[in-house]
Amino acid sequence: MPSTKPALLTDLKHTYDGLKPNPIRVFDAEASATPGVLKLTLGEPDFDVPEHIKQAAIDSINNNESHYGPSNGWPKLRKAAAGFLADRYQLDYNPDSEIIVTVGATEGLHSCLDTLLNPGDKVLMPSPTFSLYDQLIRINGGIPVYINTESTGFVLTPEQLSTAIAKEGPSVKAILLNFPSNPTGVTYNKAQVEAIAAVVAKTNIAVISDEIYSELTYGADHYSFAKALPQQTLLINGVSKSHAMTGWRIGIIAGPADLMKRVALAHAFNVTVASNPAMAGATEAFSTEAGRQDSLVMKAEYIKRRDYVVGEMTKMGFQIPEPTGAFYVFAKIPAGCIQDDTEFCYDLLRKNKLAVIAGGGFGPGGESHVRISYAASMDDLHEAMKRLGAYVQANRKEN
Ligand SMILES: Cc1ncc(COP(=O)(O)O)c(C=O)c1O
Repeated sequence: MPSTKPALLTDLKHTYDGLKPNPIRVFDAEASATPGVLKLTLGEPDFDVPEHIKQAAIDSINNNESHYGPSNGWPKLRKAAAGFLADRYQLDYNPDSEIIVTVGATEGLHSCLDTLLNPGDKVLMPSPTFSLYDQLIRINGGIPVYINTESTGFVLTPEQLSTAIAKEGPSVKAILLNFPSNPTGVTYNKAQVEAIAAVVAKTNIAVISDEIYSELTYGADHYSFAKALPQQTLLINGVSKSHAMTGWRIGIIAGPADLMKRVALAHAFNVTVASNPAMAGATEAFSTEAGRQDSLVMKAEYIKRRDYVVGEMTKMGFQIPEPTGAFYVFAKIPAGCIQDDTEFCYDLLRKNKLAVIAGGGFGPGGESHVRISYAASMDDLHEAMKRLGAYVQANRKEN
């Protein structure tokens, strides 16, 4: 096995300097090595991919759809995605010029940042937020700037945004929004979206709106940021969460045509095109009535799990902003327990073999919180709540 010539390691691309592997994955790997552990760590739906979607991919392979597709994705998938956005969120995108199929939402985010950012440009993010954003911004030469939203129920207010824009100055190039949110489970209603959009409309700042959890919204209908401010928005969505297809790696970007021409370059130079069997599956997911029903069935199950977990944890003394979307509970650690979230998680893992994620890794406002993914079976959730309850009872010091 070759070892690297040391001189090669001294001057690698500097935007990667100091970046470490995702702390969620690191903790998850450590937890996996604990015998008897129960993990509520990853944002990974526990459902199987529906049979009709699998069959569409199998048919694609059997039909020898084995050559490069058009870089922006199969026209029929772009049409299906445009239809999905129109039916579900009343958005109007031209599949020929305003939609790109990506390798998961992750590649979509990367291609958007790659398109927008020059070295030193700032990207504002309401925090706590999905931890990958920080690294994606940095590797694309940008500077992540967090806006702590703990005091406003994890929802960015127009006042907070205006203050941040004024403070950070003209180098703010973009705002990266995510709702329903990973990690908080909180989402934005129409009035909240419109209030933010009114602030952004007065600027030349672009919004990347990651709405990958839009189909998992439990209260009012999801209202897309792209509905409020289409001319400044690059919208991210996909089938990873709505159809439990995380491993298939299909996302979409929708945005205004002139901007999308540039995004298409970033996308093509990054990955060329997504894979054919996965595009066949995503076409089926987006375009058929059965595909719509799949998300509804999963959503009904998530609601039951959410209600159970929130009820149990509230009884234990956790404070939880009502999770109205995605499949996470973001809970403040009860008084009397270890308040350092990382220490809490390691102690819980060691003593009661339950793995949950420390909130501080999601940015300012996440400290003293834990994130629990309830994308797990009811049996596992029952056992998890038993372990968590026993841990809190045994380790809480009464004041
Ligand atoms: C907010 C958010 N955006 C994007 C992604 C990545 O999605 P994909 O698997 O489609 O790349 C995730 C995955 O957990 C997520 O939570």
